[in-house]
Amino acid sequence: MLSEEVDYDQLIPNNVGLASDPKLQRALEEWHPGYIDWWMDMGPDGFQNTDVWLRTAISVDKSGWAKFGFVKMPDYRWGILLAHPEEGRVVPCGDHYGDPAWQEVPGEYRSMLRRLIVVQGDTEPASVEQQRLLGKSAPSLYDMRNLFQVNVEEGRHLWAMVYLLQRYFGRDGREEAHELIRRRSGSEEAPRILGAFNEETPDWLSFFMFTFFTDRDGKMQLESLAQSGFDPLSRTCRFMLAEEAHHMFVGDTGCGRIIRRTAEAMREANVEDPYDVERVRALGVIDLPLIQRKMNLHFSLTLDLFGAEESTNAANYYTAGLKARYHEDQIRDDHRLHGATYPVMRLVDGVFTSEEVPALIGLNARLRDDFVADCAGGVRRWNKDIREAGIEFELRLPHVAFNRGVGEFAGVSVTPAGEIISAEAARQDEKSWLPSTDDAAFIEEFMQPTYQIGDFAGWIARPSKGVLGQPVDFEYVKVPDA
Ligand SMILES: [Fe+2]
Ligand SMILES: [Fe+2]
Repeated sequence: MLSEEVDYDQLIPNNVGLASDPKLQRALEEWHPGYIDWWMDMGPDGFQNTDVWLRTAISVDKSGWAKFGFVKMPDYRWGILLAHPEEGRVVPCGDHYGDPAWQEVPGEYRSMLRRLIVVQGDTEPASVEQQRLLGKSAPSLYDMRNLFQVNVEEGRHLWAMVYLLQRYFGRDGREEAHELIRRRSGSEEAPRILGAFNEETPDWLSFFMFTFFTDRDGKMQLESLAQSGFDPLSRTCRFMLAEEAHHMFVGDTGCGRIIRRTAEAMREANVEDPYDVERVRALGVIDLPLIQRKMNLHFSLTLDLFGAEESTNAANYYTAGLKARYHEDQIRDDHRLHGATYPVMRLVDGVFTSEEVPALIGLNARLRDDFVADCAGGVRRWNKDIREAGIEFELRLPHVAFNRGVGEFAGVSVTPAGEIISAEAARQDEKSWLPSTDDAAFIEEFMQPTYQIGDFAGWIARPSKGVLGQPVDFEYVKVPDA
């Protein structure tokens, strides 16, 4: 068998020639039951025995890489799939720029590389854990299916990282692979590595914000790892990005449909004031200020994932050629960044000031800036719907210094508009900037499940089309007793 064809006769579908590496195959087969236990324990609660119309990756060809069909999630074929190798690929940046890309781990960078893979790998199961209760309040079968699709693919992304660990890092890799299914989101004793992955995703508005913002951080990280000089990591991430595009779609259209429904309902009922929350909520839709508060929260939590603006770790990863910039191969410079600078926003004497720092040190800030720019398109589209309904309200990404726990602005009290205030004033106004316990109570009561075929909860617009040629009114999830 050519190693690039996907072998589906195996317990673990793969295009990495697992059958010809018995030792690795055994290691992965030993990890498999623990993974299934984790999935049964921490995967979608209440729907493990339910048929869901899911896509499964069956090839890595650009056309037709997936097949669709009904699957019970624990039977999903989580496979190990690497994108086709690129002939003549080179290390794209740093000290080894232009050398042939590595097919084996360069010894001197072994622990740095392992760390990068573990941190990425840890986020994948974490989001499944965070979202495990959401099926119970799904606004439609279509949305429920999209949630489960995202969940099984995050499971596959975990497999992708575990493959790299087990294949290239020997005993340490096996131990790390085990830890990845031992840690739990929000656990005190063994939390997930990054902060945002220990927060709750308590409701569907949060879910859509999470997929819009936090999965988009994932996309940015995968984009920079897809440029890695360690070729197996690059190929793994390139294929993960094909799946990740759907997660962006779910977030973007999910938020968009909620906002459109609110705007429509307000227009139909001639409610002009978006801050007349009682009247808006009485229409059975979510008020725009609450949507803004959720956006403030998820945006700021996600910014923390980029790490400190100025970071020697980021510089080391780059110089080693392990993690590059977003679209490194499309940037025209020396790809070593010797002597180059990058403008980083800092707080100097109480004023936000842009300062040039060595570009290597400012790589996290740069990736974060790329991320913010990438978010802007969605927000613009959402605002268009609000404007077209004749409502005077504009959703805005908060200032990057707002509500931060990591980096230059951690612990500084800043309003969403970017005004620096006292900690006391911040505490008083927090309720108007971030979701409160009242908001949570409202949403919990408000978001009741909608399981009838073709029905949608009143607070979210129908999508313009179904999944891959299926009608919107398709039974995407065969919910028992629905
Ligand atoms: Fe992922
Ligand atoms: Fe994702």
